[in-house]
Amino acid sequence: MAVGRRRTEWRHTMAENSRIAGFRNMTVDERRAAIADATELEAESFAQMDATAFAPEAAADLSENVIGVFSLPLGTATNFTINGTDVLVPMATEEASVIAAASNAARMARPQGGFSTSSTRPVMQAQIQLINVADPHAARTRILERQAEIIDLANAQDPKLVEVGGGVTGLEVRLVEARSETYLLVHLLVDVRDAMGANAVNTMAEAVSGTVAGIAEGEALLRILTNKADRRLARARAVFDRELLGGEEVIDNILRAFELAAADPYRAATHNKGIMNGVSAVVLATGNDTRAVEAGAHSHAVVDGRYTCLSRFEKNAAGDLVGTLEMPMPVGLVGGATKVHPAARAALQIAEVSTAQELAEIIVATGLAQNLAALRVLATEGVQRGHMSLHAKNLAASAGATADESAIIVARLIEEKTFRFDRVQALLTELRSGGAR
Ligand code: MEV
Repeated sequence: MAVGRRRTEWRHTMAENSRIAGFRNMTVDERRAAIADATELEAESFAQMDATAFAPEAAADLSENVIGVFSLPLGTATNFTINGTDVLVPMATEEASVIAAASNAARMARPQGGFSTSSTRPVMQAQIQLINVADPHAARTRILERQAEIIDLANAQDPKLVEVGGGVTGLEVRLVEARSETYLLVHLLVDVRDAMGANAVNTMAEAVSGTVAGIAEGEALLRILTNKADRRLARARAVFDRELLGGEEVIDNILRAFELAAADPYRAATHNKGIMNGVSAVVLATGNDTRAVEAGAHSHAVVDGRYTCLSRFEKNAAGDLVGTLEMPMPVGLVGGATKVHPAARAALQIAEVSTAQELAEIIVATGLAQNLAALRVLATEGVQRGHMSLHAKNLAASAGATADESAIIVARLIEEKTFRFDRVQALLTELRSGGAR
């Protein structure tokens, strides 16, 4: 198969059915039981998701000056089929509606087979900045003439990576005209396999920088990966069912929403934020570096110097809505929080991924689902209705309402279009004295 165009071979041992009826209305214990049924997850794995599972002492190995551990809701999106296999998607997010929306969009993709995904090889790049080079053009060719030697030296830093099929895949040299001089940028392209790869490429860049500086007859300054990870792309595509979307007019309005995002950077930023609601939630749940993925996403959203949207929507020949998303996805399964954080380990078990590429593809499919869900709501009823009912629920809970009382109060607040705490308190008092039904 052509290098960089590999279609991931998916394992077929994933969740047998990602459609779990009534999942949203279950208790936490019931949801855990349903996931245990759908996957091979053991009871201990669920205990790893408890807030107490990550002890401050263990957290202190990840960061500095640790005084505690910060928890977030961890949920599972349902209904995803990816490359013909059902997948339960772990998501960590503080934002209401995100996981429900992703699950809903995944349901709308199911009738047409769900999501099709693919990805490039997991190639990260390190940059070495060379300064004080008298003849940058000639220095560039001198470096390229000796690339085999430089690549060997880089690979010698990580024999284990080379042993498992990774290592340097290429070397490129760019000239960047800056204010005070022309910098020579040596890029090391490295297949980092199942790692996020920052450590591997930074080590290599530092190790070869003296040699390349010598060849260029200059000095090496910065030696660090680029987060514009445009050689490590993942893609997702899905056809969303016209009837489940709400018909042709909804599709046309979703297309108008997409067109606006493609044309206007102000809208594109919000459109991409919708994608990142899904993407960052899976990245975080699996213990990966959200900032690296976000930096990669936004740099990829700049095309010909203009910021635009990452996804594309079209009507296919049958009149159905097709969505596609391609973006950098530098995530790993080894190292850092992915191995140390108990909930991240459990999340990876839920997703049942065996390679970083599989995880990258799941994340991009989730981003596309999240994006479609947001566009559909915006093109129909708007986001506030859903948000206000959640807000009403929060108000009722803060006033101390029971689940039954909350249902009545939320319905009343929506009917009255009043979302004030004093009104909730008044309704609760009325309810408890036998009124407000
Ligand atoms: C809110 O978190 C995300 C949205 O603003 C995304 C969008 O506007 O497409 C709803």
